[in-house]
Amino acid sequence: MSPWIDLRSDTVTQPTSAMREAMARAEVGDDVYGEDPTVNRLEAEAARRMGKEAGLFCASGTMANLLGVLSQTQPGDELICEAEAHVYYYEVAGMSRIGGVIPRTLPGERGRLLPEQVERALRAPDIHFPPTRLLCLENTHNRGGGSTYGVEETERLARVAHDHGLKVHLDGARIFNAALARGVEAARLAAPADTVMFCLSKGLSAPVGSVLCGPEETIRRARKLRKLVGGGMRQAGVLAAAGLVALEQMVDRLAEDHARAWRLAQALAGTPGVELDPETVETNIVSFEVTCCPEKAFLAALRDEGVLAGSPGPGRVRMVLHRHIGDAELEAAVGAVRRVTARPGAA
Ligand SMILES: Cc1ncc(COP(=O)(O)O)c(C=O)c1O
Repeated sequence: MSPWIDLRSDTVTQPTSAMREAMARAEVGDDVYGEDPTVNRLEAEAARRMGKEAGLFCASGTMANLLGVLSQTQPGDELICEAEAHVYYYEVAGMSRIGGVIPRTLPGERGRLLPEQVERALRAPDIHFPPTRLLCLENTHNRGGGSTYGVEETERLARVAHDHGLKVHLDGARIFNAALARGVEAARLAAPADTVMFCLSKGLSAPVGSVLCGPEETIRRARKLRKLVGGGMRQAGVLAAAGLVALEQMVDRLAEDHARAWRLAQALAGTPGVELDPETVETNIVSFEVTCCPEKAFLAALRDEGVLAGSPGPGRVRMVLHRHIGDAELEAAVGAVRRVTARPGAA
């Protein structure tokens, strides 16, 4: 186990011993032939949880988002997403480089778009314009500090898209966190979207994997495209086995991460040199401004205290709660922040 108190991301979580055992015992086959029973089980279970017809096991969230885009667009199409959406900000322009799709970004409020904004961005057919084919939403929103959409907001956004002939892809990397925060089943948040992807490898602690879910026909296209991008895996059941344990055993415990995120936010909100409104903390991500010193100096000083955190941009720091951050680690992290911000010269 890492000697650090690692708050950089929930992606650092290690597989549980139940996952390791399931991986060792997994029944496997060649998944490119559709013959891996454990992958098939995971895909069916993921689709059931998302309320969709079919699922596709992918190597990463980035791959699942890419396939969600590629399976619902053609080269030269336009896609609408929020300006800091993961699919735009962090995915190496895969949609453009591989899919030939041009993103149109709209500024959101902590990552969230309004239906009126999307409506205004849609254009009437014109010889000059690319066809707009897809709306991408993100729930929870990573750079938005773990912000969430509720069922109604998602429905209204999707309705605008559908009324204008667009499909909707939901980047639900942390959809179970969103569902917990909103007190609804994940399937209800996914229902308005045509496709949804979620990650097994973040707060759910699986070592690898994400699942793209959607209509049978779209997933069939995505499966072929997965082969194109080199994502056709063979005895992938050893990985899917951990994913099944993640779905069975790890979803409910996300509530602990949310509770600790809230406690962390409360503790840091009163700390001089930190600016944070705890009301903005909805899930397991705590994002705040540091005014005591440049964020790089803050992160370096924190590291000297044994605490790792990240920065989404100048002046900002992000801490993500997960299974390896218990009460003791939380208290230690708060203590470290207080010592760093109180250092002579910090202000
Ligand atoms: C919202 C969101 N979407 C997609 C991804 C991509 O997942 P992966 O790192 O598995 O490619 C991430 C990863 O942090 C994410 O936060």
